[in-house]
Amino acid sequence: MSMSHVDFLQPFEMISRLMERGPDQHGSRKVILINDPVDVQTVMHSPSIVRSEAMRTLAGDGLIFSDGDKWRERRRSMQPSFPPADPDRHVGEVDWAVAGLVSRLEDFADGPDTFQLLDEMLRFTTRLIYRVAFGIELEVDHETGPMLIRFFDAAARTSMAFIDAQSPLDISAMRTFQSARKELDLEIESIIERGRRTGVGEDHVLGVLLRMVSGESGFTEEDVQDEIRTLLLAGAETTSNVLTWLFLLLDAHPNVRSEIESELDVDSESELLQASILETLRLFPPVWFISRQAIAPVTVSECTFDEGDWAFICTYLVQRNPDYWNEPNSFLPGRFAKGFKLPHRYSWFPFGGGRHLCLGKALGELESFESARSIMKSFRLVRADSEPLPPRIGLVLKPLHDVPMRVERRTSGDDSART
Ligand code: HEM
Repeated sequence: MSMSHVDFLQPFEMISRLMERGPDQHGSRKVILINDPVDVQTVMHSPSIVRSEAMRTLAGDGLIFSDGDKWRERRRSMQPSFPPADPDRHVGEVDWAVAGLVSRLEDFADGPDTFQLLDEMLRFTTRLIYRVAFGIELEVDHETGPMLIRFFDAAARTSMAFIDAQSPLDISAMRTFQSARKELDLEIESIIERGRRTGVGEDHVLGVLLRMVSGESGFTEEDVQDEIRTLLLAGAETTSNVLTWLFLLLDAHPNVRSEIESELDVDSESELLQASILETLRLFPPVWFISRQAIAPVTVSECTFDEGDWAFICTYLVQRNPDYWNEPNSFLPGRFAKGFKLPHRYSWFPFGGGRHLCLGKALGELESFESARSIMKSFRLVRADSEPLPPRIGLVLKPLHDVPMRVERRTSGDDSART
C-alpha cells in the first residue's frame, strides 16, 4: 500500500495548529477552543451558550444557524417531516435516488473511464434532498451540485476569518461569495415557484414552509428562502462527504473492504459496513466544528466565558482525542462492533447533540448505508490515482481535490482486493 493512500488519515495540520494556539482574540471577544468531550457536553447543554451570529450573516437565519424562540418554532414545524422515531420514513425516496446512482456507475463499470467521487456522491445526495424536501425529481445527470458547491466553498472561504482571527480578510472571496449567493438565490426562488405551481403537499417540508407563510405565524418569504438554503447545505454536502471518505478509507484498507463484500454476498446486512460508516464519521465528521456564543458569563472547566465570547467545538479533534480513543488516527471499524459502548457521550457526536441534534440524522444514516450497500453489492470502487489527499477545511471537511475512481464489477465470492 503506498503512503499516499493513507496520508489523509493523519491529523490535518491546520486544525491542530488552531487548537494548539489556545484561546484567541477576535476584537474584544475571546474564542475558546474546546477539545474534550466533558467540556463539549457543558457547552452544548448550557442555557447561557447559544448559536453564534457568524454564519447567519452569510447564509441567513435558517434552522441550522438560528436559536431561541425563532429556532424553537421552526424546529417544531419542520420536525414532523423528519421523524426520528420513524427511520424508514424516506425509504422509497432513498431507493429511488440510490437506483439513479447505481445506474450512473453502471456506465463506468469495467470500462477505461473514471468518475469523480465527490461530484458523483454530491449528485446523488442533491437529488435525494430535492425529492425528499421539495418533491422535485431532478434528472439523474443534473448539474445542480456544482452550483451548490460554488456557494458552499465561497461561504467557507469567507467564514475563515470568523474561525481563524489570524487569517487575512479575503476580499476576492467575498466577491465570489456574493455572486455565488445570487446564483443560489435564483435557484431557491425557482424551487419556491415550482412548489407553489404544483401545489406541493405537506408530506414534503417545502409544503409545510409554504403553508406557514400563508398562515398567521409571521413567517415570511425570506424565512422560506433561509430554510431552503439550510436544507441544501445540511442535506447535500454532509452525506456526500461521508460517502467520499468511506470509499477512500475502504480503498486504503482493502482487507476491510473484502470482508464487507463477503458479508454482503451472504446477507443484505453488513455489520462491518455499518461499523465502517460510524468509524468514517469519527475520523472525518463532515461538520468538523460547531460554534457557539455566550449570552451570559459562564465557566467551562477552567475557562471563563464572558458575554459575547465564542466556543469553537472542534468535533474533528474531540473524536480523535487520545484520552478516549486507542490509535485515534487509525481506521479501525472493529471498535464499533455490535454492542459497542462509547467512552463518553460526546466522544463521538458527528450529528451534534442537545436541542440542536441534527434534524436529518435518520435520513443521513439511511442514505449513507443504503447507497454504500447497493454500490458494494455490485461494484468495487478503486482509486485511479495515487495523489496525496490534502484536506480542505471549509464548512464541511472534504478532500482538497476530487478523486478519480474506477468501477470494477463484482461477482459473488470475488476476493481479489488490491493489497
Ligand atoms: C451524515 C450526514 C449528516 C451529518 C454528519 C450532519 C451533522 C449535523 C450536525 C453536527 C448538526 C448540529 C449543528 C449544531 O449543533 O450547530 C446538524 C444539524 C442539522 N442538520 Fe444535519 N447532518 C447530516 C445530514 C443532514 C441531512 C440529510 C439533513 C436534511 C434534512 C440535515 C439537516 C440538519 C438541520 C436542519 C440541522 C439544524 C438542526 C437544529 O438546529 O435544530 N442534516 N447536522
